[in-house]
Amino acid sequence: MQVNQALRPASARSIRLRRIGLLVAMSLLLILAVAIVLRERRERTDLLQADADRIIDDARLAPKALAAGRDVFRTNCAGCHGADGHGSTATGTPDLTDQDFLYGTGRASEIEQIVLHGIRSGDDKGWNLASMPAYGHSVPYAREKLPSLSPGEIEQLTSFLRALNGSTSEDPTVVAAGNVLYEGRGGCWDCHGRDVQGDAAIGAPNLSDGKWLRGDGSRRDISRIIREGLHGVSPAFRGRLDPAKIRAVAVYVASLHARKEHE
Ligand code: HEC
Ligand code: HEC
Repeated sequence: MQVNQALRPASARSIRLRRIGLLVAMSLLLILAVAIVLRERRERTDLLQADADRIIDDARLAPKALAAGRDVFRTNCAGCHGADGHGSTATGTPDLTDQDFLYGTGRASEIEQIVLHGIRSGDDKGWNLASMPAYGHSVPYAREKLPSLSPGEIEQLTSFLRALNGSTSEDPTVVAAGNVLYEGRGGCWDCHGRDVQGDAAIGAPNLSDGKWLRGDGSRRDISRIIREGLHGVSPAFRGRLDPAKIRAVAVYVASLHARKEHE
């Protein structure tokens, strides 16, 4: 008992000291946490208030945006567009690293709109102005009266497109017949342009650049698209991802092809 009494004042003091130490440490941690939260909040506001197309050239904002964007891409986009953004012609998912854009010119602000609202995603602000009609069906297109094409006509159009893309084994008469269909009854020019280079205002791809959304440009793949149509979907992320994350991933995706441009 005596021993305990002698010890008590000392241990009480050390307990008090320890408590104070703990309190100081906790206060420091709290201050640190608040500082981190405040900094993140400021960075988020800076990112959202900046001009989306200029972030990439902003030495302060760009590194954070690109790092955050890469993470968002890995989690939300890579599943379809591939870890490296090269897409897949097996699933009709476009390469995001090239200079070939379905919509617009590949600016971060344009990509941001695609991520927010999607393509044929059901979001009423998403891109949904045109789809590739299914010319082998009795009603090829719901929005506009277009004629069905016979298998022979689809072959002619296929030969025409293959010749345009460098195939030398096409029969010139068949190619000429395909050209007539393209400019005439098929109505292809209306969306893909008289120059066959597509229309980035409605997402109609260039059909003469040797790049294909789906398949490899073989006779089988091209004729299947003309016969069955195509209407790829990119999901809308509005409401699913924080706006700052959406902006970051748009900057990251824009950087993928911008980097190529400089190479
Ligand atoms: C479920 C699969 C899927 C997911 C997930 C997806 N996409 Fe897409 N994305 C597509 C498809 C398919 C298209 C082509 C749509 C078309 O054919 O018009 C596309 C098109 C695009 C385009 C237009 C490309 C061009 O050439 O103009 C952009 C930009 C894009 N996606 C960005 C993204 C980003 C960024 C994410 C992630 C935040 C994402 N996508 C997630 C499937 C997906
Ligand atoms: C109403 C507009 C419209 C018309 C008319 C139209 N297309 Fe398309 N076409 C599109 C759109 C939009 C796409 C891209 C679909 C997508 O992104 O999923 C497309 C895609 C294609 C593709 C695939 C291109 C690629 O890069 O993989 C081919 C081939 C094609 N069209 C050929 C034709 C031919 C041949 C005709 C005429 C017989 C025609 N199209 C008429 C809108 C149209």
